Amino acid sequence: MKSKSLIPNKRPDENSNKRPDEKLIDRTKGFLDKEEGLRLYQITLEVSSLGPCLEIGSYCGKSTLYLGAACRENNSTLFAVDHHSGSEEQQPGEGYFDPETYDIRQGRMDTYPLFRKALIDGGLEDTVVPILAKSEVAARHWATPLSLVFIDGGHTFKAAYTDYNSWVGHIAPGGYLLIHDIFKNSEEGGQAPHYIYKLAAASGLFQVLPMTKTLGVLKRRPCGEFPDDLPVI
Ligand SMILES: C[S@@+](CC[C@H](N)C(=O)[O-])C[C@H]1O[C@@H](n2cnc3c(N)ncnc32)[C@H](O)[C@@H]1O
Repeated sequence: MKSKSLIPNKRPDENSNKRPDEKLIDRTKGFLDKEEGLRLYQITLEVSSLGPCLEIGSYCGKSTLYLGAACRENNSTLFAVDHHSGSEEQQPGEGYFDPETYDIRQGRMDTYPLFRKALIDGGLEDTVVPILAKSEVAARHWATPLSLVFIDGGHTFKAAYTDYNSWVGHIAPGGYLLIHDIFKNSEEGGQAPHYIYKLAAASGLFQVLPMTKTLGVLKRRPCGEFPDDLPVI
């Protein structure tokens, strides 16, 4: 009798090439523009060999697929923090509610199953560590320097400030702080991400780099580097 093959089915990560999988990203639900995603990818590729990266707000995995693909190229790690119960504007009855993210058994939103599928399809299970928790809970005992922090969680002032306050101190010198959904004008969108962007810029710790659409890019000055406007005695 012919024996059954012991060779397992190919896992998705054996098939995927190393670049971000554009087709998978296109069919993944989310709130990230392609140009912004590619900037995330390029910066992560540049910096993630310095240490692990962390995102706050993964939703169904769109941003994770860009960040994760770059971490995978550098054998780095991406911590992906999200409680997966959705932000205020994603709840039933709100403007960004998607019925497919609602779990009838739990009686609430749950984006984790879709997020997990994106990780599997993207071949990122050996690169991305999902942290199913509120940002402030995940940060409570955090002690690892990070090469990059991407903030795309709750968009109230309290939520954005909490994310900033919880994680900014963990960015290593030479690392990046990236903030999504920055609208300089309140008619275009909520002002909380812009508020924390301005806090970071005013701290003197970051070099403010050109934005890509609504993506703010700040680079933590390496030790021994100074702002151009540092007073000279
Ligand atoms: C705008 S979506 C993120 C979009 C995602 N980055 C993308 O590329 O599509 C915001 C996410 O932040 C999560 N979130 C909101 N407040 C949070 C908190 N305090 N801690 C952890 N996650 C939070 C929500 O569950 C939601 O999935």
